[in-house]
Amino acid sequence: MTARSPAKRVHIKSYGCQMNVYDSERMADVLRPLGYGLTDDPEGADLVVLNTCHIREKATEKVYSELGRIKAMKLRKAESGGEMLIAVAGCVAQAEGAEIIRRQSAVDLVVGPQSYHRLPELIARAHRANGETLAADFEAQAKFDALPVDRGDTGVTAFLTIQEGCDKFCTFCVVPYTRGAEYSRPSGDIEREARVLAERGVREITLLGQNVNAFANDEGGGLAALIRRLARIPGLARIRYTTSHPRDMDDDLIAAHGEVEALMPYLHLPVQSGSDRVLKAMNRSHTTDDYLKTIERVRAARPDIALSGDFIVGFPGETDADFEATMSLVRDVGHASAFSFKYSRRPGTPASAMAGQVAEEVKIERLARLQALLEAQQRAFNADTVGRTVPVLFEKPGRHAGQVVGRSPYLQAVHCPGGLDLIGKIAPVTIKSSAHMSLGGERAMEIA
Ligand code: SAH
Ligand code: SF4
Ligand code: F3S
Repeated sequence: MTARSPAKRVHIKSYGCQMNVYDSERMADVLRPLGYGLTDDPEGADLVVLNTCHIREKATEKVYSELGRIKAMKLRKAESGGEMLIAVAGCVAQAEGAEIIRRQSAVDLVVGPQSYHRLPELIARAHRANGETLAADFEAQAKFDALPVDRGDTGVTAFLTIQEGCDKFCTFCVVPYTRGAEYSRPSGDIEREARVLAERGVREITLLGQNVNAFANDEGGGLAALIRRLARIPGLARIRYTTSHPRDMDDDLIAAHGEVEALMPYLHLPVQSGSDRVLKAMNRSHTTDDYLKTIERVRAARPDIALSGDFIVGFPGETDADFEATMSLVRDVGHASAFSFKYSRRPGTPASAMAGQVAEEVKIERLARLQALLEAQQRAFNADTVGRTVPVLFEKPGRHAGQVVGRSPYLQAVHCPGGLDLIGKIAPVTIKSSAHMSLGGERAMEIA
């Protein structure tokens, strides 16, 4: 008998949004006391967790094909007398529950996004091959209360979930069903976690929520008050937040963009469509005019703000004219970056049963046109930075030796000659070149 239990290896793969990335890191935190160390390679691992996304049909399908691959690994391990547990976590777990085990019997346990603090108990039951191995409760608070205060290895930047769930019920979207009702964490808990991260060398925190700007601050003052509070933490140089809903951009949050130095000039504010008729059918609770007025107010507070967003093309009933309205809105706004998707019919959502489903070829054609326009805008935004000197927070080594990569305040990736000592530091960089997704530059002065 050895004094210590042998190290176990867990492979966690994240799909979908940043909230899943955060959850995957927290799962690792929950599993660490059980002796699990992270591995990049699922082959031979003791536990494989797929932290899944349900947002579009393709995302869900990917999970089942990956499960087939992992099953083969599980069988190989069993042949050599070993054991591999397979866990499905995340939004597919919540949406499909026990159906996953019926479809893929190699799966040992299923755990929803609000229940992964229970992984140790579920793993113990799965080992004994008895008892309930499905956890899909909707108690966000119980989860956060149960998570360890400490965090595992952190880099220069970190995600911090402050809000979960959604009460908005856009007619195309599964999130209200997979993540549950809106829940905001207590500010004191958030500050404690942010301080732990800053003490570990994190310089930039991105506050996360499905509707992060609907954050209900238990101490009053909404998201803006939280940002002002976190901005005082020593070492923390940059704060970002995502994803916001146009309806919840209040005056104080907009003002904070002009006042809080640590709050970065980047705003991801999805509008989805440029047609009011479509927005109404989507139950977005804002019009294009509301959105444009919000953008105007944000730009008045912070003229250089980089705007990002999400768009859906081919929503049921979307006509050529509706789509042209989206193109025209995009032309008017000018985006630094954006995500765009073909509408995907999700079971159980109101839009999936709507008349006027748009043909696949039409969606493909519209998406290609929209993406070409968004790409041109991104290239133009990046090209505008050339010649300017911007502060870059260096995050990691570049692909080439003697090169480091960081981010500008506008979230652009910046490649720059320099040593690894720069990682974690903010230095002024003069931008020399630009492409679709990144910038190249040279350090302008000494490190800040
Ligand atoms: N809470 C955020 C979005 C979360 S989902 C918001 O309200 O903006 C991320 C993005 O996925 C959405 O903004 C939307 O553009 C896209 N999306 C959601 N459901 C979709 C569906 N059924 N088909 C295609 N895209 C979808
Ligand atoms: Fe989905 Fe709409 Fe909620 Fe965003 S606001 S998560 S798109 S239902
Ligand atoms: Fe996907 Fe769930 Fe995020 S459905 S986008 S992982 S909230």
